[in-house]
Amino acid sequence: MKKVRVSAPGKLMLLGEHAVVYDRPCLVTTIDTRVDVVLEKLRQKRIVINAPEVGIKSYQRTLAQPPLEKVPKGVRFLEAVLQIFYKRYRPKFGVNLNTSNGFSSKYGLGSSSAVSVCAATALAEVFKIKLSKRKIFDLAYQAVLEVQGLGSGFDVAACCYGGCLYFRTAGKVIKPLKNCKIPLVVAYSGKKADTPFMVKTLAKKREKNFSKIEKDFDQIGRLVEEGKKVIEDKNWLRLGQLMNANQKILQELGVSTSRLDKMIKAALTAGAWGAKLSGSGGGDCMLALVQKQRKHQVEQALVVAGGVLVPVSTGVEGVKVE
Ligand code: PMV
Repeated sequence: MKKVRVSAPGKLMLLGEHAVVYDRPCLVTTIDTRVDVVLEKLRQKRIVINAPEVGIKSYQRTLAQPPLEKVPKGVRFLEAVLQIFYKRYRPKFGVNLNTSNGFSSKYGLGSSSAVSVCAATALAEVFKIKLSKRKIFDLAYQAVLEVQGLGSGFDVAACCYGGCLYFRTAGKVIKPLKNCKIPLVVAYSGKKADTPFMVKTLAKKREKNFSKIEKDFDQIGRLVEEGKKVIEDKNWLRLGQLMNANQKILQELGVSTSRLDKMIKAALTAGAWGAKLSGSGGGDCMLALVQKQRKHQVEQALVVAGGVLVPVSTGVEGVKVE
């Protein structure tokens, strides 16, 4: 029966995390580490999933849909996509789905959203249902919300559209940026972040301290607006300053960690134009904007500060059928 291989890229948040959950814009870039999904249509009315990187081996069920909270954690994003797709388009056959990651899911580079976007695209392909990028975005974003309960959808958009995006909450605005090759050095801080926890913790803080945190989010929004222009102008010096300003606010909001702070300081001391955490904070990766001549020095400084280097290039193609 028909079989397809689909891949989608990982992502990094350039500017605007957390504020983008509250109707502000952000800037996101895709990176050249990809997730692969191979999906085969089956004659049987069965769903079979193998996702070794999240500990799932030969997960099987009939076409009757189990409640999401009852399925193993590792298959929840895929299950959510499958359930929405099967409810909406009612295909009569089952599928066999295998995932493989070009990067560790613990780095916070967006493997869950990449897998969701791949699965939605692969299902549409094997069952011959024409879905636009926007429809794939909506389906995968709905799946992510069903699993996580919250999220702006910036990562789902990055996987769908590729490149670098100016993005507003829930995909109200999704605009590709003209220049996407950004000289970044990326390092993992050694701890996996718990994004839903970080977002919920900040939501509680915002309730208590509404006007202060809204002002911070407005300021982040302004950094993003300027960031969009300076990226297109390749004004790296200014982008570095914007990243530093964004990091300062994130630190004040309490989402940075001492390891991330240490790595960011080390990158700046070694000559980076700017550096900040990427994503929810509480762990995962940081990124530094670095000119070629300083790259090696910055990389060394990051390793000494306890980071694990993650070589990336930015602004790559979004989801594609291989
Ligand atoms: O931790 P990540 O890389 O999934 O990024 C989370 C970014 C937030 O703005 C905190 C949440 C969101 O969905 O936009």
